[in-house]
Amino acid sequence: MSLASFPAVRLRRSRAFAWSRSMVAETVLNASDLIWPLFVTDGQGVEEPIATLPGVSRWSMDRLAERAREARDLGIPCIALFPNTPQDLRDERGSEALNPDNLMCRAIKAVKDAAPEIGVLTDVALDPYTASGHDGVTDAAGYVQNDETSAILVEQALVQARAGADIVAPSDMMDGRVGAIRAALEREGHVNVAIMAYAAKYASAFYGPFRDAVGSRGLLKGDKRSYQMDPANAEEALREVALDLTEGADYVMVKPGLPYLDIVRRVKDRFEVPVFAYQVSGEYAMIEAAVAAGAGDRDALVLETLTAFKRAGCSGILTYHAAHAARLLSHG
Ligand code: PBG
Repeated sequence: MSLASFPAVRLRRSRAFAWSRSMVAETVLNASDLIWPLFVTDGQGVEEPIATLPGVSRWSMDRLAERAREARDLGIPCIALFPNTPQDLRDERGSEALNPDNLMCRAIKAVKDAAPEIGVLTDVALDPYTASGHDGVTDAAGYVQNDETSAILVEQALVQARAGADIVAPSDMMDGRVGAIRAALEREGHVNVAIMAYAAKYASAFYGPFRDAVGSRGLLKGDKRSYQMDPANAEEALREVALDLTEGADYVMVKPGLPYLDIVRRVKDRFEVPVFAYQVSGEYAMIEAAVAAGAGDRDALVLETLTAFKRAGCSGILTYHAAHAARLLSHG
């Protein structure tokens, strides 16, 4: 056999051993990359499982506090909060969003009391509070009113900041709301309250289980395509990100996650800012369904998908698998 029959380069050489694979790994997932979304509800000692999100529950404040301590102990740096507002408190304008004693504000305080070391991220949008299930105020035809909604979102963000939120995250996709929220936060002295803009948020079929979790699915009239982005568009996502950064966003988010990693990469390459992605409820449910069907191994699917987010350019990932993933990572 002549020498020429050997490959000049053997890329498999460094794949041959666990130690060499780890030595050349370009991407390393850490618990500190994870943000854990949690759903909250009223009551005491309550854990309400969500049928379409197997393994995910709504927690009452005392149980939320346990989750916060769990997150801290696992090295998860931040929790994202979503309320299941009682149906009788929902109205056309989402008024309960501005109640300083609403579920969200009580949840912020519960997390801060239990684990002051970790960050609290709050969703700024009206869909858990409106009778229409939309993220804003609708007109007679059901069209979400931009500027009127934005003015309410500013107040909502202030209510959350006063309650102790560290990051406010507008997920509504109204035009101009990031700048309006930043200005209001500054005016009130919340200079270190950050904004994570759901900058490129798509009108996605992957949000179903989330809407069950916050009780808005049955209420939603029509769809959200007049404000969330068309999955067909990428350049428009770059324009959204550029605008939100100009308006004062500290972090930008792409949502959903896995089907949109091309957007993550383009945003990261273009803007060189911290980019986050949300592995949304339908993606979580898809993994769990695959596991339940015997089609895949949960631990492997979770770690592979989360690593892919990081490889694509994410500084962090919002994922319902956060605690599970952090546990896997801490056990090596
Ligand atoms: C609402 C909001 C949604 C999600 C986060 N914030 C749903 C929607 O836009 O209808 C979805 C998250 C998920 O599916 O896990 N403003």
